[in-house]
Amino acid sequence: MTQTIGILTSGGDSPGLNAAIRGVGKACQSHYGMRIIGIRDGFRGLMENRTMPLEGDTLSGILTLGGTILGTSREKPHKMTVDGKLQDMTETLVANYHANKLDCLVCLGGGGTQKNALRLKQAGLNVVTLPKTIDNDVALTDITFGFDTALGIATDAIDRLHSTAHSHHRIIVVEIMGHRAGWLALGAGIAGGADVILIPEIPYDVAVVSEAIKTRKEKGKTFSIVAVAEGAISKQEFASQQAGGKKKDKKAKVVTAEPELVYAERTLRLAHELEQSTGLEARVTILGHLQRGGTPSAADRVLATRLGTAAADLVQRRQYGVMVAARGESTVPVLLEEVAGQVKTVPPDHPWVESARGVGTSFGDQ
Ligand code: F6P
Repeated sequence: MTQTIGILTSGGDSPGLNAAIRGVGKACQSHYGMRIIGIRDGFRGLMENRTMPLEGDTLSGILTLGGTILGTSREKPHKMTVDGKLQDMTETLVANYHANKLDCLVCLGGGGTQKNALRLKQAGLNVVTLPKTIDNDVALTDITFGFDTALGIATDAIDRLHSTAHSHHRIIVVEIMGHRAGWLALGAGIAGGADVILIPEIPYDVAVVSEAIKTRKEKGKTFSIVAVAEGAISKQEFASQQAGGKKKDKKAKVVTAEPELVYAERTLRLAHELEQSTGLEARVTILGHLQRGGTPSAADRVLATRLGTAAADLVQRRQYGVMVAARGESTVPVLLEEVAGQVKTVPPDHPWVESARGVGTSFGDQ
């Protein structure tokens, strides 16, 4: 009997999502003769039973498009705001899955999506997921799609900031996305030749960062680029968090609950402290959602297509409950139970870190 597959995209959008939708959809339809239904706006759309057909030409011409033709949201099946209240809507999602006569739901998303897909698996649904995020922090896969494009954008930004920092003899602190992982700041920092790279996995000491910049100044290099991951944290704040956050210093009290404000506040404070301690003017650039926009890189298009078609193969074999992970040149299914709840952060002794140290980049720690 013909299988019917639903596809949704969930979490923050990411370049390569449309390439992945196309990969799953075209392989399912033309290779295996399955029916495909698009679910709009992630798990919210499944709860509200908002679908769109993905037949005919809908999957043509989307390979190079940024964003997601399906729309996305950060909603969780078990915690959805309905009628002004947070409610567990898992049963409604399950009912709509059956109402659409789905044989499998393919979920494209990052760490949160893997957890939500596992919940649906536990509720009895057949699910297959793909790892998507510019943060590259999904466990058990070599890489996630979206990361390469964002890496290129952030690197290009650092290149451009170099010439203006150089002309004005300034420090430019550039904040790069990545949530709790430093992959993007580390990669772009290395590729863009940042003088200092600060990542969440290696808490920094402002005095050490300042020394690195002053040493450059003494050598006649009167500008510096500091690539700071949005989750980067000072040793002092880290220690305070480890101690349960009870003994936060006065400055930490101005930190607000919204993550992007927490990040921005830390970044601005760092720039201010560096300006005070080095005597060089400092400016801040927050790259923000620019890093997620626009057309995917060639590498992301290839990766998304590989993962998408591999998902179709798994669906055909009725091998459900797994994420399709990239491993070298091939792909492997990984049980959702193993990937959900894990975050792939940068090991502090990762070869990228060692290489950056090798070319004299400071991580603000020693
Ligand atoms: O997970 C991707 C990501 O872009 C993170 O790097 C960032 O912290 C977050 O999403 C921003 O989320 P939002 O788009 O909801 O502001």
